[in-house]
Amino acid sequence: MEKEYKPVSFSKTTITELMVPTYANFGGKVHGGTILSLMDKAAYVCSTKHAGAYCVTVSVDGVDFLRPVEVGNLVSLHASVNYVGRSSLIIGIKAVAEDIRERTESHTNTSYFSMVAVDANMKSVQVPGLVLENSEDVRRFMKSKFRKEFRLKKKEELNEMIAKLESATDLNYLDKENCIVASTLKK
Ligand SMILES: CC(C)(COP(=O)(O)OP(=O)(O)OC[C@H]1O[C@@H](n2cnc3c(N)ncnc32)[C@H](O)[C@@H]1OP(=O)(O)O)[C@@H](O)C(=O)NCCC(=O)NCCS
Repeated sequence: MEKEYKPVSFSKTTITELMVPTYANFGGKVHGGTILSLMDKAAYVCSTKHAGAYCVTVSVDGVDFLRPVEVGNLVSLHASVNYVGRSSLIIGIKAVAEDIRERTESHTNTSYFSMVAVDANMKSVQVPGLVLENSEDVRRFMKSKFRKEFRLKKKEELNEMIAKLESATDLNYLDKENCIVASTLKK
């Protein structure tokens, strides 16, 4: 059977939601978790459209909230497929908050959701290839490939460091940290 390809534009998705008072934290701003949940929804819609299959979230990269979101704002999540592997997809999501009265817009964050297409038994399945339609699509694909490779390398390094730490007994390592070690733990 011939391999299937779909253009980036096929699955581009925007979800817009009003930030209602029930989304607020005690400081009156919108919970970060609310924004994350909306982003996850946008990632699901976008990945499922491309894959033509059920998709699950496996990891999230680059969640930095750059500024608070206010109750009453309209938040739009712009999602597009940045990269596809065999069964995985990286969805780039840009969150933009809009103040209708002030007519201002602010970019609150951009995050990258790794999704995997699965069958009814939760076994990963192949997704269509991606048609890169312009230089922006090419740049995003390359950037995601790089980010994926970098993350795997960093994960290995981190595991090595943690393994070393677990065998370490030198409490001097914590000297400049904001903690004290109970005297019963000191030899
Ligand atoms: C998604 C899942 C089925 C993948 O299982 P798996 O045994 O790793 O499957 P595979 O080895 O076939 O890997 C599938 C793909 O996932 C990718 N992948 C696996 N773990 C990943 C991670 N943490 N981050 C990014 N990609 C990941 C692999 O690189 C592979 O990509 P490719 O096919 O494009 O090369 C399994 O991890 C799962 O069920 N996770 C739970 C998902 C879920 O419930 N999410 C909601 C959370 S509440």
